[in-house]
Amino acid sequence: MVLKIAQITDTHLFADRKTAMRGLVTWDSLGDVVAEVRDWKPDVLLLTGDLTHRGEPQAYQHLIERIAPLNLPTYYIPGNHDQVDVLNQEFKDSPFLADNVFQRQGWQVLLLDSTLETAESGEGYVSEAQLQELEQSLTACSQPTVVVLHHHPIPMGIDWLDTIGVQNSQAFLNCLTRFPQVKLVLFGHVHLKFDELYQGIQFCGTPSTCKQVLREEAREQEAYPGFRGLRLFEDGTYQTEVIRSHPG
Ligand SMILES: [Fe+2]
Repeated sequence: MVLKIAQITDTHLFADRKTAMRGLVTWDSLGDVVAEVRDWKPDVLLLTGDLTHRGEPQAYQHLIERIAPLNLPTYYIPGNHDQVDVLNQEFKDSPFLADNVFQRQGWQVLLLDSTLETAESGEGYVSEAQLQELEQSLTACSQPTVVVLHHHPIPMGIDWLDTIGVQNSQAFLNCLTRFPQVKLVLFGHVHLKFDELYQGIQFCGTPSTCKQVLREEAREQEAYPGFRGLRLFEDGTYQTEVIRSHPG
């Protein structure tokens, strides 16, 4: 048995579906990615922030219109572009689940809110309360664990981007590395594919469903919208891949 989880992130929807972000209509590109997610046949969906660009209720309703037909248990966290109260209000019904911890098929998934109310440039922070909750969940359950947050807790190697990650990442990493069951950390925010093993934990950055951040040496397909698929096996091993939709 395998648990298949799809991560969709940084959808940046607007109240008007025709609005483009840096030349790309985010409603359209999300539609292309959702078609790929449907074909991949996940069991669970994670939405990892920047779900809307400006936090309007209509923009969240557009997201529901795209996601609800997948009919998947859907967990979500906010990003720096979201309005948390509006998000929680709009996502109060099925298929959305407000839980920030769940266990399925021998795995535990922990979702953290890394948004910072006083942020000036979209930077993130893992609050003391979130760190305590993380520690409690990891102490209570030793099943293989995936930790999910919006902001990146390790550097991407891109100067401007690395100023807006988790500001107290060392406290977060110190907590994680005390618990050997932590296998993966998933995040959005960076709008690019990133995979790196750090102190035995796989850190995974996932492309946006719209515009990507491109490194100088990026190949053409790294500009394409995409999502991340995770296959979690009962023996505690995993596989992960990024699947992209071809624009146009
Ligand atoms: Fe974003």
